Amino acid sequence: MTGVKDAPKMVSLFSGCGGLDMGFKTAGYEIIWANDFDRDAQAVYRMNLGEIDGRDIMTVEENEIPDCDILTAGFPCQPFSNAGSRKGVHDSRGMLYKECLRIIAKKKPKVIVFENVKGLLSTKYIDGRNLVDVIIEDLADMEDIGYNVVHELINASDYGVPQNRQRVLFVGIRKDLNKEFIFPEKQDKSRLALGNILDIPADVPNQVDWPLSPQAMEMINYIPEGGSWKDVPYEHLAPRFRKIRDNMKKYHSPNFYRRFSRSEICGTMTASAQPENCGIIHPTENRRFTIREVARIQTFPDEFVFIDDNIKNITAMYKVIGNAVPVKMANVIAQAIMRQAFEGEQKQ
Ligand SMILES: C[S@@+](CC[C@H](N)C(=O)[O-])C[C@H]1O[C@@H](n2cnc3c(N)ncnc32)[C@H](O)[C@@H]1O
Repeated sequence: MTGVKDAPKMVSLFSGCGGLDMGFKTAGYEIIWANDFDRDAQAVYRMNLGEIDGRDIMTVEENEIPDCDILTAGFPCQPFSNAGSRKGVHDSRGMLYKECLRIIAKKKPKVIVFENVKGLLSTKYIDGRNLVDVIIEDLADMEDIGYNVVHELINASDYGVPQNRQRVLFVGIRKDLNKEFIFPEKQDKSRLALGNILDIPADVPNQVDWPLSPQAMEMINYIPEGGSWKDVPYEHLAPRFRKIRDNMKKYHSPNFYRRFSRSEICGTMTASAQPENCGIIHPTENRRFTIREVARIQTFPDEFVFIDDNIKNITAMYKVIGNAVPVKMANVIAQAIMRQAFEGEQKQ
């Protein structure tokens, strides 16, 4: 990876297909090392951003990672996700953040960025403390250095992303720089409705969709634009949905098969891309969103490609896109960090 002179050097952990990295790159950072052990994510990353180390981060020695100015890590969200089993830090994957600490302690970057799901806010550490407090204290008290860490629950739609997607962001600035990060102002949402992004020229790549199951097709016939499974007559529901409809109170009235309208901001795109857990149905056509439509909802530029002749696994593309940090959100944060931690530093 070659870069611009004086661009802050970035090490990216848990890089996925590169949503966060794309946002930082376009804000002027030079990605000097990235890592992810998922082969589908690596393939997409290489097509768009460059080389990526494909090892399990737990097997990588700190001295194999170059020195950097900023370290980013969207450590896996599954253990913290409300949709998952909520094993939290008792699940070994929950400890992956300790891998970040191990590397930060050796590399001492000026800035660190962690991204995670909302569920992290209500996750307890093994000793009963809130995980958020543990992370902040671990980073604050790091030997020799230490970081001033702030965190915020943000909605991607506040930063120009046509999607309501809540994520927790931690930004830490090394204590010797005497700064505390201030999250950027929320932006106008008036251009974020689905109708603004679904008109895609035919020559834009990756306009393929993963066909819905026959059962799903039967149900979506009855769901109007802006509706959900609640619009499907009982006799047309798949058996497992009838069971839930029979006892909505017990199941807390879930809102499956949400079909967002063109005048609404879309819901969170998930890695599974299933109509049960995300609004993946096109507003006016009876089908799942295409790879490109989901990519647009996640604010990947149209030049960013996901699937080629070597990558035949279409479901894997929905997975890597759903896992990504929206590019635009990452870019807004990256620009704010540039102004506050790096450009400010040069002026002193
Ligand atoms: C939420 S995704 C990150 C998405 C990424 N930040 C983006 O914007 O596209 C988490 C990633 O961590 C990777 N991962 C999980 N455990 C890992 C490990 N032990 N070593 C390396 N990568 C790992 C997964 O393959 C997954 O791609």
